Amino acid sequence: MTNRIPASERIIVALDRSPFSGNLPLLDILEGRAKWVKIGLRSILAEGPGILEKPNELGYKIFLDLKLHDIPSTVAASLENLIPYGFDMVTLHVAGGRRMIEALRKTADETGGGRRPLLLGVTLLTSLDQTDIRDLGVIYSVAGHVKRLAEIARDSGCDGVIASGAEVKVVRSACGDDFLIVTPGIRPGGTDDPSSDQRRVMSPSEAVQLGSSMLVVGRPIHGAADPGKAFDEIVKEIESTESPAV
Ligand code: C5P
Repeated sequence: MTNRIPASERIIVALDRSPFSGNLPLLDILEGRAKWVKIGLRSILAEGPGILEKPNELGYKIFLDLKLHDIPSTVAASLENLIPYGFDMVTLHVAGGRRMIEALRKTADETGGGRRPLLLGVTLLTSLDQTDIRDLGVIYSVAGHVKRLAEIARDSGCDGVIASGAEVKVVRSACGDDFLIVTPGIRPGGTDDPSSDQRRVMSPSEAVQLGSSMLVVGRPIHGAADPGKAFDEIVKEIESTESPAV
């Protein structure tokens, strides 16, 4: 399905520079090249949702990475308060359960108007391993638990999930071709910067081949000497990749 999306529209550029004004030159450089940008909770808390104005003015689609998780009425009201600022995708923790997700989907449908934000579920944080989830009382393997949560996300109204490269395959086969899978931890050519805190990384082509729909890329673009060139190279790498069913 998503292989019909042009490669440049499959890359979500993380605007992780702090203060947020440090991202503005990147927005200018990537204007007309990139379609999607990601803004995180840290920037929203530091500077308020008004920071969405500039990327909106420039015509970017905005992925708001807030990882919402609370009782249904609270998350729904929070989403409703944010919708007027304009964004296109928002994250939530699937651990909040079916009723929380259903409440968010209802709010998005009813108040999103022509710009209903897509809902993306976070299954299991990649900072958690088998020992951590056992400690939390989960009896499944990491992959089994991610699969279970992805199915709950799909069945309760999410448009897709966030999945690390290690989990893409299991989610794609469990949730089908029309489900969005967004993958962070991307390093072009599979290489990693030793100073990076990303432990499990994957190249753009590997992630797309496994079934990722879209890739979140931060430091390989905003930390590059020439961010425009770094973006274009990732586009080329995706274009040269035969993606399977997605
Ligand atoms: O490592 P990089 O700079 O490319 O990270 C881009 C974004 O992806 C960051 O905003 C980070 O918070 C997010 N992310 C991640 N790994 C996860 C989940 C989210 O790097 N497992």
